[in-house]
Amino acid sequence: MRFDIITVLPQLLESPFGHSILQRAQKKELVEVHVHNLRDYSTNKHKSVDDYPYGGGSGMVMQIEPFASCIEKLQNERQYDEVIYMTPDGVTLNQEIANELSSSQNIIILCGHYKGIDQRIRDVFVTKELSIGDYVLSGGELPAAILVDAIARLLPGVLSDETSALSDSFQDGLLDAPIYTRPAIWRGHVVPPILLSGHEAKINAWRDDQQLKRTQERRPDLLND
Ligand code: ADE
Repeated sequence: MRFDIITVLPQLLESPFGHSILQRAQKKELVEVHVHNLRDYSTNKHKSVDDYPYGGGSGMVMQIEPFASCIEKLQNERQYDEVIYMTPDGVTLNQEIANELSSSQNIIILCGHYKGIDQRIRDVFVTKELSIGDYVLSGGELPAAILVDAIARLLPGVLSDETSALSDSFQDGLLDAPIYTRPAIWRGHVVPPILLSGHEAKINAWRDDQQLKRTQERRPDLLND
């Protein structure tokens, strides 16, 4: 699967894709991440990509042309399933959306800055607008990295244990059960004895019960859904 991320701050995206699971997924050629510097598509001699808002008001607006020429160049090279704009006024990302997007081949992600991007880019090119939560960040780069991570870990072969993405919190609409490793007793805190029993059916029943309890306590909204 291929991601093309368009940004004014390509350096911000070096680290998230340069380590651990996402780095390995790229080495194994399961995932390709291409980061494009929006300023390379500015025709202006100062390489600026923003301008004052029509109608006045504070903050700058990202201009149409640099985004349009970068998106159109990519779309001339291959077919894209989605052009996604990361924005706090988008639909909130959740596991179901990540699952759906994981069946795509090619995705373009636009990162906004300042006040945001000219509405006409959204009207003409964008197929999906996603938020990572009800708070405002300084740009779309970290949200874009989160989106790529949430999708890439679902692709076959990316996680070493193929079943582990399936047992994540949210995959069955519930939060995960508590987990433990050695030692069995730490400063008087003991691991629930059932986990040491070796009785698989009882362990699974305990985990199911804990998942339900935790979801009821922390995220009752998930059970209503
Ligand atoms: N850009 C700034 N804040 C954001 C958010 N919460 N989600 C997605 N993109 C953003």
